[in-house]
Amino acid sequence: MSKARILGTAVTISQRFVAQALGEGDIAVDATAGNGNDTLFLARTVGPQGQVYAFDIQEDALDKTRRRLAEAGELLQTRLIKDGHENLAQYVQGPVAAIMFNLGYLPRGNHEIITRPETTCRAIEAGLELLGPRGIMSIVVYSGHPGGDREAAEVESMVQKLDQTRFSVLRMDFVNRKHNSPYLILVEKEN
Ligand SMILES: C[S@@+](CC[C@H](N)C(=O)[O-])C[C@H]1O[C@@H](n2cnc3c(N)ncnc32)[C@H](O)[C@@H]1O
Repeated sequence: MSKARILGTAVTISQRFVAQALGEGDIAVDATAGNGNDTLFLARTVGPQGQVYAFDIQEDALDKTRRRLAEAGELLQTRLIKDGHENLAQYVQGPVAAIMFNLGYLPRGNHEIITRPETTCRAIEAGLELLGPRGIMSIVVYSGHPGGDREAAEVESMVQKLDQTRFSVLRMDFVNRKHNSPYLILVEKEN
């Protein structure tokens, strides 16, 4: 039998860290629902007593996510919201245990609909305020598409300035993978 990959991708690594911060009955946010992979992971992890809020601006993404969750029997604890993640504080009350961002465009969707630096940074700021102590935010960053490099630079500049007494910020990337492969930023709230 072949062994499972340990390093995998920025996405699988993000899920491993998030799983450590999240338990049954917790509140979690998928800020970019897309095809629903992270939403399903969060819904399974918080279980029927928990609550997941999943945002996307595309109906198509939310439809795919809804179908995915329904097939897996994990829809009940998930609220799907067709709005920008920059408005997340209007829908979600803290403390939140985990928030996941997967930036860029919807795979197999319209590549011109992408996350944007201004709204992404506003959403990250709002999300950090909602995180509870030891809550975690994961941000998978893609810089390869047009506009992605500016978004990556603005997100990094923002998280680098976070007060180290309140947040720990880690960046992980695959240094030998082809230029512009996605990388991971993790933010843990200290208190
Ligand atoms: C890389 S995809 C997410 C992939 C997803 N995590 C998955 O598991 O399939 C990025 C998604 O962000 C969405 N998006 C773009 N701008 C947004 C915004 N302001 N608020 C919420 N979602 C947004 C896009 O519509 C797209 O579906």
